[in-house]
Order: sequence, then structure tokens, then C-alpha cells
Amino acid sequence: MVDSVAHPVADHEGPTDEGRRDFLYLATGAVGGAGVVAIAWPLIDQLNPAADALALASIEYDLTKVALGQEVTIAWRKQPVFIRHRTQAEIDAAVRDDHAPMKDPATDASRVKPGHAQWLIVSASCTHLGCVPTFKGGEYNGWLCPCHGSMYDTSARIRKGPAPKNLYLVPYEFLSPTKVKIG
Ligand code: FES
Repeated sequence: MVDSVAHPVADHEGPTDEGRRDFLYLATGAVGGAGVVAIAWPLIDQLNPAADALALASIEYDLTKVALGQEVTIAWRKQPVFIRHRTQAEIDAAVRDDHAPMKDPATDASRVKPGHAQWLIVSASCTHLGCVPTFKGGEYNGWLCPCHGSMYDTSARIRKGPAPKNLYLVPYEFLSPTKVKIG
């Protein structure tokens, strides 16, 4: 079952209440349609403890599902995670900016696994207030957060806007050239 969704967008402004995150998951599920995992986001808190514990477990993902230049959003520990299959142009742009002024400096190489620069796997929660950014927005050809305009580059490093940190890395390892285990 495909557990991916296409760039969920929160089209509300200025989230201020505690329900915002739940709303995002609901919106993501609605936009994403087919994703089992996406549907699980709004439901998981209603399930029994065993099911909830399952959401904390490591998950494996088949990377052959993600075409070059595309990304999927999956759920891990009830949080959205981007798995982006970067083009060479995206990698080159990120490396070129390694030493540009940044709020949260990091080289591109430090954000990917050695030998797997085409795969960027990061939290999909904006580090400002947690909205889910969309790709191909903003001035850096990376992600743009629709809530308050934070812009991330193709390494998901914060480049402009109110977000204080890069999109967080999540722990993962390659089980094979085409399969990762997250968590
Ligand atoms: S949540 Fe405010 S810029 Fe992303």
C-alpha cells in the first residue's frame, strides 16, 4: 500500500491553538487520499495502546516508490517526514551554498548519508510553529512554509523567514540501496 501523500498544505493562517497540529494531520490525510499512513495520523489517538505503540516503532520504506525529483511524506512516530529523491541539480545547489550565511549552518554532506546524497530524509514540520512546508516554493528552490513564509533550501536548511532551525534530521539507516529503516 502506498503510504505517501503529495505535499500537504495547511491553507489556514496563523495557527495559534493546540489543535493546529491535529488539523494539519487531518488536512494531510484529506489531501493525500490513498495513504494508509496519512489516514492513520488523525485516527491514531483514538486507537488502543497497542496500536499507539506501533506508531512509535521503526518503519521501513521502499525507496523505489519515489521517482527522481519527487518526494513523499510518511508518518513516523505520529509526525510527518519527508523522503525526497533529489536531482543532481538540487544536490549541486545545496553544496554550492554550504558556506552561505545561515541561521543554522550545516553542510549538505552532514545532512545525508555518505554515498546517498540523492536521498534527503527530514522532519516535515516547520521549525517555527510546525506547519508542513511545500516543495518548489520560496527563493531557494526548496521548501516554503505556507504559514509564515519560512524558506528552506534543497538541503532543507532554513534560509529566510521566522523558522529558527533547519528541518530536523530523523534517524535512519539504509538496509539496502533501495530500502531505509527510519527510527
Ligand atoms: S510555521 Fe511559521 S513559518 Fe512555518
